[in-house]
This record gives sequence, C-alpha cells and structure tokens, in this order.
Amino acid sequence: GTIDTTPVYIGAGQFAAWKHTQLILDVVEGRGGMFSLDNGTGRRFLVRSRAYDEGEIAMLHRADRLRAMQAAHGRDADGFWLAEARRLDWSVFPTKADESSFDKRDFGIRWFADGELNVSVNCLDRHLMTRGDQQAIVFEGDEPGEGRSLTYRALHREVCRFANVLKANGIAKGDRVALYMPMVPEAAIAMLACARIGAVHSVVFGGFSPESLADRIIDCGATLVVTADEGTRGGKRIPLKDNVDCALERASGVRSVIVMRRTGGPVSMREGRDIWWEKACAAAPDDCAPETMNAEDPLFILYTSGSTGKPKGVLHTTGGYLLWSTLTYDLLFGPEHGRDVSDDLFWCTADIGWITGHSYVVYGPLSNGARTVMFDGVPNYPDPGRLWETSARLGVTIFYTAPTAIRALMREGDRWVTPHDLSSIRLLGTVGEPINPEAWDWYHERIGRGECPIVDTWWQTETGGALIAPVPGATATKPGSATFPLPGVSPELVDGEGHALAGAAEGNLVLTRSWPGQMRTVFGDHERFFQTYFSTFPGTYFTGDGARRDADGYFWITGRVDDVINVSGHRMGTAEVESALDMHELVSEAAVVGMPHDVKGQGIYAFVMLNAGEEGSEALRGELRTLVRKEIGPIATPDVIQFVPGLPKTRSGKIMRRILRKLAEGQADQIGDISTLADPTVVQQLREGMNEPA
Ligand code: WT7
Repeated sequence: GTIDTTPVYIGAGQFAAWKHTQLILDVVEGRGGMFSLDNGTGRRFLVRSRAYDEGEIAMLHRADRLRAMQAAHGRDADGFWLAEARRLDWSVFPTKADESSFDKRDFGIRWFADGELNVSVNCLDRHLMTRGDQQAIVFEGDEPGEGRSLTYRALHREVCRFANVLKANGIAKGDRVALYMPMVPEAAIAMLACARIGAVHSVVFGGFSPESLADRIIDCGATLVVTADEGTRGGKRIPLKDNVDCALERASGVRSVIVMRRTGGPVSMREGRDIWWEKACAAAPDDCAPETMNAEDPLFILYTSGSTGKPKGVLHTTGGYLLWSTLTYDLLFGPEHGRDVSDDLFWCTADIGWITGHSYVVYGPLSNGARTVMFDGVPNYPDPGRLWETSARLGVTIFYTAPTAIRALMREGDRWVTPHDLSSIRLLGTVGEPINPEAWDWYHERIGRGECPIVDTWWQTETGGALIAPVPGATATKPGSATFPLPGVSPELVDGEGHALAGAAEGNLVLTRSWPGQMRTVFGDHERFFQTYFSTFPGTYFTGDGARRDADGYFWITGRVDDVINVSGHRMGTAEVESALDMHELVSEAAVVGMPHDVKGQGIYAFVMLNAGEEGSEALRGELRTLVRKEIGPIATPDVIQFVPGLPKTRSGKIMRRILRKLAEGQADQIGDISTLADPTVVQQLREGMNEPA
C-alpha cells in the first residue's frame, strides 16, 4: 500500500537509553507499514520494515502482548480474567471470575470463587519436573558472601518438612501463625509451609517492637510464632527471640514458638512452649500433601497503618492474590521474548515484613519459576557499595528497590558504584514513594548505565501487587511517573465531591472496579474495611493517594492525601505516633505530621504540648523518642519534636493539621485563613517556637 515514509524520530535521548526495550526506530505516524506499535499513550506508530535485531523483536513482542491483553479485557473482562487464570495450576478451575461489588448493598470482593488450588503447589510442586535443580532462592546474608542457595527441589522438601512441623504443633487450616523473622530462606519456607496446610500467616517486620508484635499477634489470634534466636542487621544483632518472649507476656494465646538458629546467640527456651526449628525439622517427614484451598480462603494477613486507630490487618486470599502477584511479576519483570525466566536473577530488596517482600520476593517470583534473591543485610554495610558489590558478585539482572535507598546511596557518591561491574543488570524498578528526577537520573545513569528501563510501580499493601506501572518494552517512561494502569486496572481521578475528572487533571486517586489482587477485608472488622476504603467516594475504592494525569494520560502520584505519612517507603499513621507520645506522663497532647526529608522522602514532625507548668528539654525529647521506639519501632522515631504551648484547634476542638503541615514544611507564610481557630494567636507562638533547637 501507500506508506508515508516521513521518518519521525522519537526522542532519541530517551529512547536510545532503552537498549533492550525502547529503540530508535524510523517510525511513520499514519497508515501502512509493517508493525503497529502503541506506546501506551494511545497514539499509534506504524513502523517501517527494516532489519530488526533481537532486542527490537523482544520489544515489539511485549508491546503487542500488552495491547492484546488490553483489547481482550475491553471485549470481555471475565473471559480475559479466566484466560489469565490459566497461569496458575488449579485442582478445580473456576467458572466465574469477578463477583465483586463496591456498593454498600451487596458489598464484597470475590474472585474465582468456585476455583480450588494451593499456593505452595503453584510456587513449588509444579516446577519440580522442569526446574527441580534450578535455583529458587539465592540467599545473601548480612556479611558479604555469607550465603547459599536453594533449588526448587530443596525448597519443596524444606517446606514440606516445616509444614509437618506446624501440623505436629497443632496448626490446622485457617489457624493463624505469626512470623517474626530475619530475611533468611526459612522465612519464605515458613510462609509457604503455612500456605501448604492452609494456615494463615501474618509476617511482622523484625524491626517492630515487642509491643507492636504483641498487638498484631493478639489482633489476628495467632497461636504459634516462628522466629529466630537473633537477627543481624549491619553487623548489629537484634534480639528477636527476647522480643517474642516479651510480647508473649501480653499475647497469651500463643501455645508454641518455633525458633531457628541464625546467630547462635543466647536465648532462653521455655519448656513446653518453645522448640528449635532444626531439631523439629530433622524429625519431620519430607512429604506433605497440600491442603486443597478454595480461591477465597485466606492466604495471609499483613498489618498496615491507616489514618486512624491501630494498624489494620489487611487480608489477602488464595486465588486472586496469587494470580495478581504472578501476572504482575511476569508483566513487569518477566523474561524477554525467547528467553527463560531463569536467565534472570531477580533482586527485590524489600523485607518480607512488607507487602513488597510477600509479592515480589516470595510469591510472584516463585510462582513464575524465577530465581529470587533474599538479602538479610542493609544497603550501607559494610559500606555504601554493598548493593552494587552484591549485584555484581551474584550476577543480578533485575534490581527492584525503594527511592529512599537510591537517594541515600546517591549521596554517598559514585565512588561506591564505579568499582563494580553492573553489566548484568538489564532492568531496574522502584516502589514505595514517588521518585524524584535527581534520583531517577542517578539510578538510570550510574546503576543502569543509561540503558536500563526503570519500572516505577505504584501500588499498596491493599492492592496485592502493582496497579500502575510501565511494562518494559511497551511503555515509554517519564521520570517520576508510574505511567499507565496495567491491563484490567481502572484508575480514575475524582474531585473532593467524588466527581470524575476528565483529561489532564489532579485529584483523588480511586479505582472504579475490582482486580484479583484486591484485599478482601480488614481481619475481624469488615465494617472498617468498607468505611475506610469505600465510603469516601461511594462506588469506588479510595486509595488515600492524590494523583495527576498529564496531557498524554500519564499518572503522577503526588502522595497521601490522608493522615498517613510515608517514611522511607514505609507507611506510618500519624495517629499511632501520637498515641505513643500521649503515653508519656508529662504529655498533654501531641500532633504529628509529615515533613519533607532529603533521604527518607518524609520525616516525622511532632508538636508536643506538655501538662501545665512542665518545661520541654533535650532530655525529655530523648525520652519521647525512646518511648516511640518502644511502642512502635525505630522507623516511627520523630525527626523533630517541637514543644508547644498549644495546638491550633477549631472551636469544636479539632486540630487543624493543615496548619501544622505548612509549618513543618517550612511554609509558615502560606498558612492561609486561620479565622476559624478557637485561638488564632497559637499560630504565632508555634512559628516562634520553630527556631528553638529540635
Ligand atoms: C503507599 C502504599 C506497594 C508497596 C510498598 C508500599 C505510596 C507506593 C509508589 C510509587 C508513588 C507510591 C503511595 C501508596 N507509593 N508506590 N511508585 N509512586 N507513591 O506499600 O506501605 O502499603 O504504602 O505508598 O502513597 O498509597 P504501602
């Protein structure tokens, strides 16, 4: 036919960098040509035929696949989801996909509800024939080179053994098991062993305090805890077993504690309650028939902070969660056309105490038969080159981390990167918070050699896996934007009244329909689930985030619009920190807001009002910081504590956080209208108080 051969050069600077994915092609916008490419913006480029190299073909393949998925979802959503469900091994294949409703009258989230499967079978057994001797987990300890790897066969055996140990200790389908573990293969083994017998795990981050651990054990009603003697982090030891002992003084429903040896450090074992992992496993048979689970049976509970009250137990179920972690892992990090998933070594640096560790250290990679790294150290030990030294030594090909880590390492200078050969890396990812352009450029240039695509993934504990993210090879990125929704995901921006905003706009980010990885409930409080997420903008799931959509349709997450702050990619509820501070006998009332922080993204700014007649001091600041650490954990430690004579309240007694936020952001001049305050002079006092050392 007639081909318009006017070459259109797609931003060479940007695309030249995308060696494996985006390429410099002579493209012709219009009719004719050989390939039709949709770069995600909805604009079609028809590509003139010429010799393509392997990388280019891989790119066209992925772009085509993404477009085909989107089209299939558009034609018949349920048909699309059932076809995608074929990614998993089911003992009973579902006949229905989405039966969810966001509406108050028939509210509920349900997917594949008549299907049956077992998660551990999908992550292990189904790979044994083809990948039995392939690495599954590559473990890297706190000390460089301290590590080992487990094949799929070995992992399967250990999971079966530990599943038998759980059973022997009275754990059955539906029982809750709390895990308080270092980042060692045993943590993944314990998760998968729970999944094998239908027990529901609740992983508690090892950095949380005994008080936080106790709260979570009590809330989910766990009867067994799995832990280690001690954890190690940057050469320091963390007394995990001691912390468990301390937590169990209050959490009295726990009948057994299984302790693995990590450091060999001293611990006290309580007769009749505590047993050693190694001893118990040595005596256990290494086969264990998997429990058949309904797709909607619970898989795990993971606690996360919200704007009010105590952390919520986010509940994920078997079929939908596994499909979503499996599908998104493949879309975002899967092999290039013509290659196998085992050609890659995938390193997600998240701890399994967070959802990222669940979905992209354990379930997503293992379900896909990938090789996944578990790292039990920290980025700056023994020196700030650790992540790059380890990536080079292990031959990591895909590296996924949080912007806060990138910023922290960027500050240490390039001399920690340059000695290491990072040529094995082909793809980079980020998660947890918006990435600023400086960090993006540094990551792209210094770590990605100016060639690797950066996959910026927006999601939440509640979403189970990524929802908005570029598909490498198919989506042209813009630094700082998570780009477009994945197939089947329907984000929308709404104004304060819930009206949908069209085109380029900024507003509250909601999702208008369910996706398989959506959380199913707040454990033990279904009403709170509805109230928290579905009552603000009726008929939609409200994420708590604000976002902007630009003229090309790209999404830019602007941050939380509720009272949740994001400290180093970790969620912190201001209410939680406030109630910890309120516990101090000299504190009358505290108000906590986020403040900009160069490395952490956001820091914690606490305004503390003391009882009448009390004076603030450096010593008291220290006491308050210690108190927060004890009640929640080190990640919640306030960066700034300002003692104040009063808090800005409305006449009805509500704290006006807007004012505190502006002060903490150093924008005292932009506070705006304060006429509704009960006592407007408070603001001036707060401003003056900011000059004192904190
Ligand atoms: C909140 C969810 C999802 C795993 C890690 C955090 C923020 C997450 C991005 C991103 C901008 C992001 C949001 C979200 N967030 N990813 N790529 N760009 N913001 O999970 O602890 O449940 O926190 O993290 O504010 O609501 P989480």
